[in-house]
Amino acid sequence: MNKATSENCFHGGDIISASQHYDIPMDQWIDLSTGINPEPYPVTDTLGDMSAQAFERLPYLQPDFLDSAGAYYFDQDYEKTDDHRRRLLAVPGSQSVIQALPACLAKLPVILPELGYQEHVQAWRDSDADLAFYDALELSTAKDQIDSLIAHKSAHHLVVINPNNPSGLQFSIQQLNIWAQSLSGGGHLIVDEAFIDTQPENSLLAQAPINNLVVLRSFGKFFGLAGLRLGFAFANENLCAQLQQRIGPWSINGPAQEIATHAFQNTAWQQQASINIVTSGKASSALFAPLFAQYAVIRSMHQPLFTSYWLEAELAAFIYRAFAMRGILLRQIDCQQTGLSILRIGSLNFEDEDAVARVKETIQVLIDVGLFQEK
Ligand SMILES: Cc1ncc(COP(=O)(O)O)c(C=O)c1O
Repeated sequence: MNKATSENCFHGGDIISASQHYDIPMDQWIDLSTGINPEPYPVTDTLGDMSAQAFERLPYLQPDFLDSAGAYYFDQDYEKTDDHRRRLLAVPGSQSVIQALPACLAKLPVILPELGYQEHVQAWRDSDADLAFYDALELSTAKDQIDSLIAHKSAHHLVVINPNNPSGLQFSIQQLNIWAQSLSGGGHLIVDEAFIDTQPENSLLAQAPINNLVVLRSFGKFFGLAGLRLGFAFANENLCAQLQQRIGPWSINGPAQEIATHAFQNTAWQQQASINIVTSGKASSALFAPLFAQYAVIRSMHQPLFTSYWLEAELAAFIYRAFAMRGILLRQIDCQQTGLSILRIGSLNFEDEDAVARVKETIQVLIDVGLFQEK
């Protein structure tokens, strides 16, 4: 059996590398390697309405765009108050804020999840911050570890991915508020809510703003439009200004603003999308259930946009490769030092009958041939 190698791309969704590595044309791939909604907002419906100015003019932030984003993220009764507007920063993907934040905050040690979207660790490491880690699997262990780090020294930044990608760990709003209040000396709580859109009641944006809180939201996942490169940071006015300065002007292009405005105002689509994401997430994990029943997975976790399975690393690499050789891209994430890997599998679009058939067939082939017995 093969070890995980460079064929297992660093980020999900890299069909170009997968296509080169497995010599399968790009348009033949089924991409289950991300947590992006497989039924995206129908951009083509909006293209006819798009103004030529969206392309022609410098993309200053349009009031309609900011108001509709505010209405979506705060709630539908959002009033266009200056206070809210000053706390909302539109950015070209939450990734840009993850990279810019260390330079905008006080130089303090940072507490991060052991497992999670790795760009957070990378950005803080690049800034030479002292890093401490907490368990990203068990809620009570994670809580004890964070409590003890803060009790020892309250001047820390704390990064929480809520819910965690890929582990699914999720803290309550109450718990996050307690930590935000405990941090001192310029310490900030940074909460990455990239995957919270199907449960807005658990977002920290549902409550009154806190001065040392930064909330990150990603437009691409729930709306299925990762290529638009849009995200939002919610933070105090001063921090928003610093982030804006680092990211630079005109960072959200005109067409992206118009498409996002359309999508933010389409509440009927959003309600249906929430239902569809939950339904197709469950159906996708049910599809894979017989495969993972064949081999005792050590642990599994389901989120509406992805399911993660913990397996012995060599076995995970073997399954990853078996799918990839049939043009189906999964995501393999190695858990350092444990000898385990996570196979994270995104949702299928069940309207794509051909894709569903190919995934089913691959699962069946692996079950029938009993290749896992080789282990
Ligand atoms: C947890 C998490 N946060 C942030 C991002 C960055 O997303 P974007 O820059 O598209 O908003 C990702 C991307 O996969 C992610 O998984």
